[in-house]
Amino acid sequence: MINKKLKIGFFGFGCVGQGLYDILTKTAFDAEIIKICVKNKTKERSIPAHHFTFDKNDILQNQEINLVVEMIDDAVEAYHIVKYALQNGKNVVTANKKMLAEHLEELVDIQKKYGTSLLYEASACGSIPIIRNLEEYYDNELLKSVAGIFNGSSNYILSKIFQEKSTYQKALKEAQDLGFAESNPILDVGGFDAKFKLCIITAHAYGLFVNPDEVFNFGIERLNEHDIRLTTEKNAKIKMIAFVGKKSEKEVVSFVMPHFIFKKHELYYVENEYNGVIAEAAFADKQVFVGKGAGGHPTGAAVLSDISAIRYDYQYEYKKISKNKNLHYTRDVMIETYIRYQNLDDLEGLHLQNISVKHESKDFKYLIAEVSLENLYHSRSQLVEKDIFLVSLGIKK
Ligand code: HSE
Repeated sequence: MINKKLKIGFFGFGCVGQGLYDILTKTAFDAEIIKICVKNKTKERSIPAHHFTFDKNDILQNQEINLVVEMIDDAVEAYHIVKYALQNGKNVVTANKKMLAEHLEELVDIQKKYGTSLLYEASACGSIPIIRNLEEYYDNELLKSVAGIFNGSSNYILSKIFQEKSTYQKALKEAQDLGFAESNPILDVGGFDAKFKLCIITAHAYGLFVNPDEVFNFGIERLNEHDIRLTTEKNAKIKMIAFVGKKSEKEVVSFVMPHFIFKKHELYYVENEYNGVIAEAAFADKQVFVGKGAGGHPTGAAVLSDISAIRYDYQYEYKKISKNKNLHYTRDVMIETYIRYQNLDDLEGLHLQNISVKHESKDFKYLIAEVSLENLYHSRSQLVEKDIFLVSLGIKK
């Protein structure tokens, strides 16, 4: 039952903030935006100046405001805003995946303690309603895995490269101009953004809080013309895939890295800023969700859905946390991996096993071998410094 009039304080008026404002106006949603707090005092705004403040306390200390909608870029500042608001009786809707991935466990405890609600559907995979589905629909179902394309910018870049033969730099610039990319695009192309979303999804899929620092991520920055040619010759594409799944009854594994995706795969035709999520469950079997993963309106639509849910006093219950107390995180799996390299010595720390393909010509050296996720994780900092590119062919069973 709808039981309250929402009086909202916005933090941020960038791509998502403006998208949401536009949606709220166009849908004549019954809520009042009391103030919008922004950082940049000189930026020209699309709505009159009296809507804005530069002082966060105009929202946080305002007793009239009962909902804070946080859409800023700065994860540290967002954490302080969200924590303070929850501790002071305000419900919060946020889209900040980095902040959530890094502080989720603490924030869940805070909202329980203070009886406030923290919702964040927009933080993972934009417009795809995956969090509430994992929380409610897959409540008792035995989830084998949740995997897919979780970052719109890198998918946009890869689409432009594989479909239109565009260059990496040009496609990245477009993704930035369209407002898809983070202000530091290494978060997108390096697989960090997808990893933050993966950690949030892991909490709702399995009731497990995994520190993002524990999760291996590898990006697309080093993709070169040889990788592209070889992939195209094999009638495949490369997509950045985030994966979380059960290794055994008690173990959960997760990672983010480029994958070869062939025509029969459900994600082959998921292009541009679209995301795709595949949930595999014991009884429902495979289910595929596809939708826009970035952009003001799609992300704003997910924020609106949370705002609407707040009116019904909706809260995530995190039932799986108490149900799955014995679960723990592991990197003890082998991944069949394509590795393009310059010097074999650079791969020493990977302790390659079962090399099945090895090609060495003057300017193109690659091999396909099995590598443990643990070794990939511990070698990450060395790997990203060299001209090395990795593509997964999947977990070895
Ligand atoms: N930079 C993010 C992406 C925005 O490209 O997916 C949406 O979270």
